[in-house]
Amino acid sequence: MLTTENSAAHGLDLAYARSQFPSLSQTVNGHPAAFLDGPGGTQVPQRVIDAISDYLRHNNANTGGAYATSRRTDAMIAEARAAMADFLHCDADEVVFGPNMTTLTYAISRAIGRELKSGDEIVVTRLDHDANVSPWLAVAEDRGATVRWAEIHDEDCTLDMADLASKINSKTKLVAVGYASNAVGTINPVKEIVRLAHAVGALAYIDAVHYGPHGLIDVAALDCDFLVCSTYKFFGPHMGVLFGKREHLMRLRPYKVRPNTNAIPNCWEWGTMTHELIAGITACVEYFADLGRASTNGATSMRVPHPSDFSKGGNDAAGASGVKTERRAAIEAAYTAIHDHERALLERIMTGLKKIPGLKIYGITDPARFHERCGTLAVRVAGHTPLELATKLGDRGFFTWDGNYYALNLTEHLDVEKSGGFLRIGLVHYNTAEEVDGLLAALREIVGA
Ligand SMILES: Cc1ncc(COP(=O)(O)O)c(C=O)c1O
Repeated sequence: MLTTENSAAHGLDLAYARSQFPSLSQTVNGHPAAFLDGPGGTQVPQRVIDAISDYLRHNNANTGGAYATSRRTDAMIAEARAAMADFLHCDADEVVFGPNMTTLTYAISRAIGRELKSGDEIVVTRLDHDANVSPWLAVAEDRGATVRWAEIHDEDCTLDMADLASKINSKTKLVAVGYASNAVGTINPVKEIVRLAHAVGALAYIDAVHYGPHGLIDVAALDCDFLVCSTYKFFGPHMGVLFGKREHLMRLRPYKVRPNTNAIPNCWEWGTMTHELIAGITACVEYFADLGRASTNGATSMRVPHPSDFSKGGNDAAGASGVKTERRAAIEAAYTAIHDHERALLERIMTGLKKIPGLKIYGITDPARFHERCGTLAVRVAGHTPLELATKLGDRGFFTWDGNYYALNLTEHLDVEKSGGFLRIGLVHYNTAEEVDGLLAALREIVGA
């Protein structure tokens, strides 16, 4: 049975949400599977699975052909761009699809690199996933630019904003920063960081991969130049999406093959894309919208999009503005409900973790500051390696992670890299209070508390 004591009061229809995800009903060694591995990748609703297979069954073709399935593929991609434009709050021609965040970041960093010269500076942070660090290290090396590192406050794993500000100067050309840490859950003040970057004429490049499942993204409000995310971290297929301000996508010169169009956003997309997964992205965004409609109306009479809807989209995705406004509002409502449910889970798990002897939590632990973090927790327990804990929890049906999860600069800085990194517990909106309680009980048993 689900505990809805927290979620119902805050508007998330948890039973409805969970019913959308077929994989959540799996068992492991007779235990119900608890997916606390969201930071590595989330589960997908049935409609995402359906959209992918329906595309392959009915519309499978390359783009730009003079026949029905190709036209439907073009329309489907336009529809997905419009969906992601609603999700990110931008225009559809500012949405670039790619295999994942890392690939997109390497691609765009190469193009940005064409404008860099010796003596220019790029700012990266100690808190970031390496996918928002190594591409910038590489481009700086290629162009003779200097990389400056913004440090963290070790005691709560938050960015040292004074240090960050001191690293930004008239030579800074780009500031690369994560929206939220995939290791310790810190949410960075990205709007302020964008402001600091723009004050010296630098670009702001935001990695929102980890923030995506937890908080509403609004690139218009952030005023960032680029923002990248990965749909597989927020209940969609394994793909990446990049927002780029139109002026930058038009000005910068992509590395691309000559026959590919010069028009944005397609000129930024390399080769033939995974069309079936793009079909899944629309379904993913519609899931959010329906969750929001349910939490606003208190009703779960959801309209699930049919693949044939794609043929109505046309190429003028941004033109569907009536739909766009309503869907954006529904997405906003979904995130309000998600936020409140996740907050309740975070309070519950934090209370329980603090009682386990020998357990150290990295990151913000004070409930009064929970607005500065999400429900991604990095812990270590004296006498137990993270791998040992993750394995024993996994055997009991609790899927967590161990290691550095590519937040390598952080694990090295905190000197936990050589001893196995952290045990990471990731809470997303489909997790329940029972799962949290079960995890805490399993941890207590494993460590003999
Ligand atoms: C914060 C963050 N940034 C970037 C990435 C890389 O994303 P992708 O796998 O889409 O390349 C990840 C993946 O775990 C992440 O958590």
